[in-house]
Amino acid sequence: MSKKILLEKANVENIQTMEVYRREGGYRSLEKALKMAPNDIVEEVKRSGLRGRGGAGFPTGLKWSFLAKPEGVERYLVCNADESEPGTFKDRYLMEFLPHLLIEGMIVSSFAVGSNVSYIYIRGEYEWVTDILDAAIDEARKAGFLGKNILGSGFDCEIYIHRGAGAYICGEETGLLESLEGKRGLPRIKPPFPAVKGLWDCPTVVNNVETIASVVSIINEGGDAYARIGVGKSTGTKLISACGNINKPGVYEIDMTISVEEFIYSDEYCGGIANGKKLKACVPGGSSVPILPASLLLTTAKGEKRLMNYESLSDGGFATGSMMGSGGFEVLDEDQCIVRHTLSLARFYHHESCGQCSPCREGTGWMEKILQKIEHGKGEMKDIDLLWDIQRKIEGNTICPLGEAAAWPVAAAIRHFRDEFEWHILNPKECLVRNYGLGKYAEALITS
Ligand SMILES: Cc1cc2nc3c(=O)[nH]c(=O)nc-3n(C[C@H](O)[C@H](O)[C@H](O)COP(=O)(O)O)c2cc1C
Ligand code: SF4
Repeated sequence: MSKKILLEKANVENIQTMEVYRREGGYRSLEKALKMAPNDIVEEVKRSGLRGRGGAGFPTGLKWSFLAKPEGVERYLVCNADESEPGTFKDRYLMEFLPHLLIEGMIVSSFAVGSNVSYIYIRGEYEWVTDILDAAIDEARKAGFLGKNILGSGFDCEIYIHRGAGAYICGEETGLLESLEGKRGLPRIKPPFPAVKGLWDCPTVVNNVETIASVVSIINEGGDAYARIGVGKSTGTKLISACGNINKPGVYEIDMTISVEEFIYSDEYCGGIANGKKLKACVPGGSSVPILPASLLLTTAKGEKRLMNYESLSDGGFATGSMMGSGGFEVLDEDQCIVRHTLSLARFYHHESCGQCSPCREGTGWMEKILQKIEHGKGEMKDIDLLWDIQRKIEGNTICPLGEAAAWPVAAAIRHFRDEFEWHILNPKECLVRNYGLGKYAEALITS
């Protein structure tokens, strides 16, 4: 059984309240941190090997140490709770059931990076979660953990929640900062990175909810203890939101030594494929990461067991591997249509492109159109190469990584399931009947 350090207390009755959270040992890390030098906290986080849980896996302690230190300039900590990546819902679970864990992590992290005013930028649709966090912030203020001179340390800190308005691009850290400043969430050209010029042009750290919550255990138990959990550069535990054709969808905390096979088939986690079907494919790290066919999912191209960690999931690069990403683990059974699945993602990215750069704005639209054409029975063989060509022209040519997020799923689908695209083009009627149950109307649609 995986060790739990984030969700250990998630099932304790009324753990959302200060009283119960305190009774279970909550806010110990804050008391300890306030007696440490901020730089020692940064060093402890570095020692833990914690990597950002928002998708890119960048080392958190290192990111904190990049923060520019000009005297007399405010610094900010911003928690990224936008969580709009299809298939990812682990931050919601954490905030809903353990709001004080995030607030405690926020205050400790704010102290470490020198932020007196910190923000939680939360996905607009998470309205009820905002209420839960608001209540936790009120309780923390009443307990003297927020406000002026926290626990007599001389450190002042306030946390404000900002609700987004439903744009996926506002999860990208610079789009988020623009939105937080009250503007349209258009990603900024980097450099300068937020650590140098972030919110209101001040040095800013943007971290994911799970990243910040993990700091609590690192301070309580020490960075070395955290680093002993997991394997290699995948230290600590990771929250995975599992969905799709599995028996037990949900949020699981894993230590990153378990295999993908165990995660899918063990009753402790996904409980196997639903309805006794066969595993066809999996998108292991949120909708942006490459899909893997079953043959490359359970074992790597070298024939080794694939593990649920950063290194193993990306083993083989994009030719035969994928990514840990944000931990949104979507399983597809043998009945799922890859063309339809890819179209659904392409539609999402086209809709969410902010439109600043032509390769993304135009490319996402073209990809959706071509996939619509194939899916609706009017595809031509040359469309597959055209799709490939378009996705290649997006990757690496945009201001923010949404371009890549749109290109990679299309590239991986063609790379691993080209025969299915060809079958779709050669058998349009069967596909329409299978995917939509259109029966005799399929013919009319194809010839219209
Ligand atoms: C289009 C797009 C959407 C993103 N959405 C999120 C998000 O919802 N939550 C998140 O934590 N990071 C998201 N990220 C990553 C953030 O830009 C940033 O890397 C992250 O918040 C840093 O936190 P971490 O170092 O703790 O992972 C997104 C990135 C892109 C390109
Ligand atoms: S890549 Fe797409 S989403 Fe990102 S800045 Fe360019 S147009 Fe906007």
